[in-house]
Amino acid sequence: MGVFGPRKAMEGGAGMAGHQLAKTLSWPHLIALGVGAIVGTGIYTLTGVGAERAGPAVILAFAIAGAVCACAALAYAEMATLIPAAGSAYTFSYTAMGEVVAWVVGWSLILEYSLACSTVAVGWSGYLVGWIQSAGIHLPPALLSGPHAGGVVNLPAVLVALGVMGMLIAGTRESATLNIILVVIKLIALTIFIAMALPAFNGNNLEPFMPYGFAATEIDGQKRGVMAAAAIVFFAFYGFDAVATSAEEAKNPGRDLTIGIVGSMAVCTLIYMAVAVAAIGATPFTTLANSPEPLALVLRQLGQPTAAYLIALAAIVALPSVILVMMYGQSRVFFVMARDGLLPRSLSRVSKRTGAPTTITLLTGIAIAAVAGFFRLDEIAELANAGTLIAFIAVGACLMIMRRRAPDMPRLFRCPAPYLVGTLAILGCLYLFFSLPASTIARFVLWNALGLVFYFAYGRRHSLARISKE
Ligand code: ALA
Repeated sequence: MGVFGPRKAMEGGAGMAGHQLAKTLSWPHLIALGVGAIVGTGIYTLTGVGAERAGPAVILAFAIAGAVCACAALAYAEMATLIPAAGSAYTFSYTAMGEVVAWVVGWSLILEYSLACSTVAVGWSGYLVGWIQSAGIHLPPALLSGPHAGGVVNLPAVLVALGVMGMLIAGTRESATLNIILVVIKLIALTIFIAMALPAFNGNNLEPFMPYGFAATEIDGQKRGVMAAAAIVFFAFYGFDAVATSAEEAKNPGRDLTIGIVGSMAVCTLIYMAVAVAAIGATPFTTLANSPEPLALVLRQLGQPTAAYLIALAAIVALPSVILVMMYGQSRVFFVMARDGLLPRSLSRVSKRTGAPTTITLLTGIAIAAVAGFFRLDEIAELANAGTLIAFIAVGACLMIMRRRAPDMPRLFRCPAPYLVGTLAILGCLYLFFSLPASTIARFVLWNALGLVFYFAYGRRHSLARISKE
């Protein structure tokens, strides 16, 4: 028993009969899961929000967020092959640091996965509405946005979240295969965007490069600066951890996870830099700022309505794959927390037919749809980022703790310079966390305070790790 409560044994994945996930995924599925989760609303929509916060230096913001995520991805890859059990950062923290830390991380992962789904659903709705309107069809505005934008409910966002939930309930395997097709569509669309926008590159659009400076500072009631933008476009990079979350379902975790996590991260970083340079070079950043569909907007401004139409169509068809992966990750984290006894165990029951945890997926899907229906995209994304940053900090710490505690345990993937990478991941994530708006940090603290109340009232008393130690 450590200072933070009991720790999980290294073989933590051993579940009980009827509570074990089926091994159905191999590396092409995992790399598609990774890219499917990473490329989404972050690049398709938050490029505009980032431009509003940092000006043309949003390009730099992408580079900073990408560098921090690369460190976290390396730590994830080592931890995922050392502890190939479902639950990712939550399970790593349980093993390395103890139950209380694991609880905080698991509770923060709920923000990451669930709110990322809601964010992408709202981003998807932005492209859908723009696409329909560019075809000259006008829908009732009350049903196209939440109360913050003068509407009643963002119905398209609600419907896409519920639709994806239905797909997951129908079975993991089918969803992962369909996901591969959607990933290909999404990447082709971004390639077309770069090919069309880069020739219109105008150096004047990059002047002044950093109109709001570097550090996040409050300007006109809004945090601005390169770091403020990095703290929001950070959203565009995560998702690779969803691959680690599915370790228990990988056929050959060592090889498959390494390729899945590191490979998908590297591919995406390169694409983002290219998209950001193309978008900012082609259009003054003030035009991009806060557009619900900035990439389509750039192409329309360039007199390419057909390409704009196609890129919006690709976003509409493919963004649900991000929701799919994140919702999948969420249901697995809940599943493991329930299997450990920290959440009601009835939630960890899996369907005999599909091997998927149906009850949890249903509850998660409904909550995600509700948030997507009523809240603002940037605020949801920022809170999702807060949860993710805490999880990444924990994984950086786990990497270093486990190297000290169990240096000789076989690791199928060994992170290079682990103490440097772990420290950089922690410091980078802390800097991004404190660059988030104060209101986001306050919401994050409140969420975790509620979580700890639940933990001390329920989880601590039902924890299997505690019961088995008594
Ligand atoms: N990285 C994912 C996205 O950009 C969550 O949508």
